[in-house]
Parts: sequence; structure tokens; C-alpha cells
Amino acid sequence: MKQNFKHKLADQTIDKKEIARLSQWLLKYKKLTIGKKTEQFQKSFSKFLKIKNSLFVNSGSSANLLIAQSLLEAGYLRNKVIIAPALSWVTTITPFLQLGYKVELCDCNFNNLGLDLDHLEYLCKKVKPSAIILVHVLGHSNDMKMLMKICKKYKIVLIEDTCESLGSKYNKKNLGTFGLVSSFSFYYGHHISTIEGGMACTNDAKLAKIMTSVRSHGWLRDHSEKEKKQLFKKYKISNFQSKFSFFYSGFNIRPTEINAFLGISQLKKIYKIVKIRNRNFNLYKKELNNYYSVRCDTENLSSFGYATLVKNRDEVYKHLLSKNIECRPVISGNIAKQPFWKNMHKKHNLPNANLIHQNGIYLPNHANQKVNDIKFICKEFKKVAKVKLVLY
Ligand SMILES: Cc1ncc(COP(=O)(O)O)c(C=O)c1O
Repeated sequence: MKQNFKHKLADQTIDKKEIARLSQWLLKYKKLTIGKKTEQFQKSFSKFLKIKNSLFVNSGSSANLLIAQSLLEAGYLRNKVIIAPALSWVTTITPFLQLGYKVELCDCNFNNLGLDLDHLEYLCKKVKPSAIILVHVLGHSNDMKMLMKICKKYKIVLIEDTCESLGSKYNKKNLGTFGLVSSFSFYYGHHISTIEGGMACTNDAKLAKIMTSVRSHGWLRDHSEKEKKQLFKKYKISNFQSKFSFFYSGFNIRPTEINAFLGISQLKKIYKIVKIRNRNFNLYKKELNNYYSVRCDTENLSSFGYATLVKNRDEVYKHLLSKNIECRPVISGNIAKQPFWKNMHKKHNLPNANLIHQNGIYLPNHANQKVNDIKFICKEFKKVAKVKLVLY
């Protein structure tokens, strides 16, 4: 039976006032399929992130799918080999598998839960990938300086799955603006929510155009008149045929105007949300100073949850449940240990991800938590949790 936790892992960010404004607006609005509100949300998001193009879609998973397909359509990859983190989310990886990419898993690093750079270089030499997708796990930045160097050295396209780290920065630059393209999620419990929703962002104009088309069946309706004319001429498409002509192998992963309406209003709250999540993280770190904690220097850390390691995880889990505190595994743990992967692929040597898989746990962090909530969670955690040491 589903438990209604007093200390939820994640919480609603859409408040009653926003729902009231949405209801009023809905009474007047005639067409709720993709339109002006989506454009407005995309513009505000680009401004916030400091990026040229943002494409709103119906989930973070769809943003990854859109990226995986559009990179192929753009001809930006010399092969279909991609390196992905073993410690990631299932739909960071599955879009690539579904589209026929060969996915190689890279181990994680204990300082930042991102990619282990030694293993990454080893894989770059061994499998010669044309792309890397990384995840900034629970808001923590990868070592972007070193990663960018590796990408440059091996001429690799970088994709950032930023679905857990909206608002975090590295060297004063927003995560999600380092790679060629990045994805965000606005699912319930993420930093901001549009009910369901996601964003794909890039500074690359060609890729942005292709993504706009791939998002909507592969047609050109969102292209300028000049661009359409050129392509119709090139492919000898009559005016009549042009109404239903498709240039890319696309999906329908569009959001609705309802989601965009919420996105515009949610984005206004992001600074406040990041501040509280950051305060929460630091409080956990102080209270749980005997236990493992992520140690990287993410500026503005927009924490998604507090990850730590314990020897007796089942015992801790049971105790926290009994105290009405929700907790979870550190996202996928080692993805190679997930049933969907185990059935399809060879064995891997991913020791760090294995340790996270066996001993990792993450504790609630959201913008509705009070200082006393976190103190209570830490007090209960410490009553049973046995320290699991890691060598950094
Ligand atoms: C790293 C990561 N990527 C992708 C996703 C998928 O986002 P969505 O739930 O919006 O499909 C999530 C979801 O939590 C995630 O954590």
C-alpha cells in the first residue's frame, strides 16, 4: 500500500495561486495545443539558462529521445557509439538503445557522482565513441574542465542530462550550457514542475531547427517561410503537398499550452527554490558529517536530494519508513544491474557504481522543507545508520 509520508522525498512546487490563475486563464483560452505560451516559456528558459535555443517537450525522457534522434538527423555523429554513465537514469540511456546506438557504460567518481575520468579516457581509446552523455547526479556538477578537455581531445559531442540539476553552476556557468545540447525535466518533484515536461537546449542553430521538426512529426511548420520555401523547392514539393510533407523521422512529443503556462510561472520561483535546496544540502552535510557526502565544488548547488552511503541500508530504510521518512536508492545505482540491461548486455567492471548500488541512499530535499524537518531526518538516520567508508 502507498504510504503518505510526513517527510516526502519530493514535493509539489505548483501552489494554489498558480492553479487559480491557470483556471482563470483556461476559461478564456481557445486553443491549448502548442502555441504562444510555449514560445514564451522557451524564451524565458533560454534567458534564464543563458542559451540560444530551448525546445519544450512533454518530458525529460522525451528531451533525451529528441536529442538522440536529432543528432543522427543532423549528421553530427561519425558513428553510433555513445558513452553513458553507469550511475544515471534509465531514460538517459534507453532512447539511445532504442535508436540502435551502442551504449558503453562508464563508472562514476566518488567526489561528484559524475563520470570517472580515468575510466572515461580508457573507454574513449577503446570504443572510439562519437558522443558522451553525462548526468549531473542530484544537482552535483561533473568535473567540466577536465571533461571538456577529453571531449576536445577525442572530438566527441557532449550531451548533458541536466534533469536533476536545474540552477546548479560550474565556474559561474549554468550546467546544461557546456555540451552541444542538454536536457531538463519538469516532472513533479523536480526543481520546477509543469506537471510533466522537459526541455532540450542548444546554442547550435541547425540542431535546434532539426529538433523543432523532430518534436512534431518531422514537418516544417515551425520553420520560417524562407526556410520552408527553400526546402520545398529543393525537394520539388508542390504547394498542396507541402501541407503534409515530412523531412525528418519525427515523433509527437509536444507539450500543451497548459504545461507552458505553468512553466512560465514556475520559472519565476527558481532562485528561491535553489536557495532553499542549497541550504538543506548544507544542513544535511553538517548533521551527517561522519558519513559519506559528495565533495565537489558545484556553485549555487541546486541539490536534488542528499546522497550518502551506509553499511546497513535495509535496516536504515525500515527505520526511516517507520518514522514516516521517504528515501530512495541513488537513482539507478549501477544501470548494468537493472533487469532491462542485464537481459541484453555483457558483464561490466564498474566498482564505484556497484558500491553506490549496494550502499547508496538518498534523503529528501525539497523547497517545502523546514530546518527542523532535516534535523529530525538526520537524528533518526543517525540512530541506525552504520558508516560506510569510501576511498576518494
Ligand atoms: C537524470 C534524469 N534524466 C532523465 C529523467 C527523465 O525525466 P522525466 O521524468 O521528465 O521523463 C530523469 C527523471 O527523474 C532523471 O533524473
